[in-house]
Amino acid sequence: MELSKISGDIEKVVVTEEQIQKRLKELAAQVEKDYEGRDLLLIGVLKGAVMAMADFSRHLQRHIDMDWMAVSSYGAGTQSSGVVRILKDLDKDILNREVLIIEDILDTGLTLSWLTENLTSRGAKSVNILTVLRKPDAAKVSVNPKYVGFDIPSEFVVGYGLDFNEKYRNLPFIGVLAKHLYS
Ligand code: XMP
Ligand code: MG
Repeated sequence: MELSKISGDIEKVVVTEEQIQKRLKELAAQVEKDYEGRDLLLIGVLKGAVMAMADFSRHLQRHIDMDWMAVSSYGAGTQSSGVVRILKDLDKDILNREVLIIEDILDTGLTLSWLTENLTSRGAKSVNILTVLRKPDAAKVSVNPKYVGFDIPSEFVVGYGLDFNEKYRNLPFIGVLAKHLYS
């Protein structure tokens, strides 16, 4: 299947490929400054953050360590279940490490508040968050991402790592899926 065919399932583009790359480059410059002379361990949340990790980390002109976790808070649909489960844990100990969580999207905040607490309880020296997207619902929870790519309306989006039933992750932009495909 051609990528242009998949793109046809997108009702509206929310963030373009160019906008994503420009913003990640800006955030990387900010992170370089903030973490100057400090340790930096990037922890990507699988699978959604794969694209963000790959692109963001390549904008960083410094050494980093990289690790991954997989957690699940969503089922196969578009509604949050409120249950967070570790599907894949970190490979290494994070005691005294300076952690920057890389996430695709902050929605209700359930996932990131749980994850922040979990990593802090393992003795990390610091735990900050970089999220590519943030939805308005995130305002209701006590998660304060230090780095936010874009604030977007409260619509279900796909692309750039975000999926609908595991599909659309490979779109280089972020968009709203045509309603007829999931209703
Ligand atoms: P919470 O509600 O815990 O959600 O902040 C975070 C996780 O939920 C998924 N999520 C989405 N996935 N399009 C998606 O493809 C969306 O619009 C969306 N909103 C939330 C995502 O896995 C994220 O890590
Ligand atoms: Mg995710």
